[in-house]
Amino acid sequence: MTLTGKTHSGNLPPSTVDPGKIRKDFPIFSRLINGKPLVYLDSTATTLKPAKVIEAVTGYYSRYTANVFRGIYAISEEATAKFEESRGLVAGMIGADPAEIVFVRNASEALNVVYSSWAKTFLHAGDEIITTILEHHSNFVPWQQMALQSKTGFRIWQSDPKGNLSLNDLESLVTKRTKLLAMTAVSNVTGTILPVAGIVKRVREINPGIKVLVDAAQAVPHMPVKVGDWNADFIAFSGHKMLGPTGIGVLWARRELLEVMPPYQYGGEMIREVHRDRTVFHDIPHKFEAGTPHIAGVIGLGAAVRYLTSLGMQSVRTHEQAITTYALKRLQQVPGLKIYGPETADLRGGVIAFTLDGIHPHDTAQILDTDNVCVRVGFHCAQPLHEYLGCGPTVRASFYIYSTEDDIDALIKGIEKVKKVFG
Ligand code: ALA
Repeated sequence: MTLTGKTHSGNLPPSTVDPGKIRKDFPIFSRLINGKPLVYLDSTATTLKPAKVIEAVTGYYSRYTANVFRGIYAISEEATAKFEESRGLVAGMIGADPAEIVFVRNASEALNVVYSSWAKTFLHAGDEIITTILEHHSNFVPWQQMALQSKTGFRIWQSDPKGNLSLNDLESLVTKRTKLLAMTAVSNVTGTILPVAGIVKRVREINPGIKVLVDAAQAVPHMPVKVGDWNADFIAFSGHKMLGPTGIGVLWARRELLEVMPPYQYGGEMIREVHRDRTVFHDIPHKFEAGTPHIAGVIGLGAAVRYLTSLGMQSVRTHEQAITTYALKRLQQVPGLKIYGPETADLRGGVIAFTLDGIHPHDTAQILDTDNVCVRVGFHCAQPLHEYLGCGPTVRASFYIYSTEDDIDALIKGIEKVKKVFG
């Protein structure tokens, strides 16, 4: 049985996302580069930022700069209240308890907290970890390294050539020794949407003790995600891929796991008492937030969550599916262009990796850049997947709430130019 993460069957409900209107909220679109407008097709790498997020960040720096949890004066209390308000907003977006929201630097750090704290404490030689071939390096390398250093087993769930996984494979992959399934929710290359809830259910039927870690960096910004629906144990995502500032990310984990996990770092504010011979750590989530946090980043992320939830995450997904459908249709008509990943947009997020016959991706990107068409080229931090697909580096175009059909048309026009120059 092939697994799909189809997010909708039948006709799509209308999206309230109007990219023409949304673009007015993003100051960067008023900029001309070399006299030409921006065609931003790299939102999988990082998204653009709306004025509301920029104002939230500058508001903290210009009106109430102070440390959090430490000052008994108005602006420190204001900063602390806004900081914790953001935690509540993030928790609300994914249907979680705020105590289970740990602020970290990015999704990579969230995954590394699970590796350094939970896995290094609770996994032992002979235990097995499963990951998928679709992973970003951040959710692949820690488990590979753990296998090399601690002699844990490391098994890779392979996809078919289109990037789809088969549920049947779990029968042989999952064993009594499997302790962790570390999987992405949406591939940052093929765009494959994994049906997380179905996978979690199936692996637990085979081995109820398995913990599931989900890299949701490409899911939480793009579609409705609720921790109760997925029923996973750990979820990681980044703020900068969902309109927020860089340098802020989130680890969600079940309370009972966070409570038994040792701190990831030691320092200020993660302690309750320190004596010469012992330390009592703070309650969760503060036990995992040593030192002065990225206060402006957290407050900016709160503003980003407000912006996205006001659009509605189903509308965000519907818009992306529509724009991806259009992009797939246009790209499929280009002779010599090969698209990687599922064939239809209902099975994929707003990301399309492709190659052009006989033309190096870097050359493609360079020509596209002459018209400010921004794409990413390379392995996109997913080299094992590219090796598995049997391709070299790829060109990747990715979309978000402000992406329009005009952006796709500009990409197609740019590709025609590339073919003229190098074809
Ligand atoms: N992980 C980000 C990407 O896929 C940077 O581009």
